[in-house]
Amino acid sequence: MTPTPHIESDVGDFASTVLMPGDPLRAKYIADNFLDDVKTINKVRGMLAFTGTYKGRKVSVMGSGMGMPSMGIYSFELFKFYNVEKIIRVGSCGAYTEDLNLYDVVIVDQAWSESSFAKTLGVSMDDRLFASKDLVKKLENSATRLGIDFVKACTHSSDVFYRQNFDDFMRIRDDNGCSVVEMEAFSLYANAIATGKQAACIVTVSDSLVTHELTSSDERQNAFTNMMKIALEVAD
Ligand code: HPA
Repeated sequence: MTPTPHIESDVGDFASTVLMPGDPLRAKYIADNFLDDVKTINKVRGMLAFTGTYKGRKVSVMGSGMGMPSMGIYSFELFKFYNVEKIIRVGSCGAYTEDLNLYDVVIVDQAWSESSFAKTLGVSMDDRLFASKDLVKKLENSATRLGIDFVKACTHSSDVFYRQNFDDFMRIRDDNGCSVVEMEAFSLYANAIATGKQAACIVTVSDSLVTHELTSSDERQNAFTNMMKIALEVAD
């Protein structure tokens, strides 16, 4: 018997640091292109997970799926039942400001959300949750060492991709100081608080809600090398 219904790995199959892209095929891409000695450790529901080494250090990578409920299930199980200490979401985001260009790298130190996830989990009544300070610092240091430009920003973790009223996005941006939008960081941060573990998130701009520029899905799959290197360097 494995410890959870959604992951078929044995405890010990996961490294203490796990990178989580939304797309399980991107997890495979990271494993195939960045890791050595790779072992596939989960295929349940196609939510692929792999453990390998990066520069000799053990690291795992697993898809989170899209949205807070999906990220919420997987990250909780990893923290609580698989002895995972650190989860770094490596994803994509929409830009809310004209200052951000496609492919810019954003270290997400805080997440604002209208989601009830943290309240329902029983961890916080706040609409704004913070990434683990240590992990954010490590990501910043890693980016600086690699010479990769980044900005630090608050994300709007949205429950809805297709809103009826576009103006809602702009109101949320202006009222809460959100520079980007994605759909997972808030639940990851809530689970880290609930379990006393560490979480952070690094995202690349894949589209802009203000300039309406878009990347293609192929570009999304392949163009995130810088972000992944920043995150992989943080594994220990
Ligand atoms: N909205 C929500 N999530 C996203 C977006 C977006 O525009 N782009 C990438 N993730």
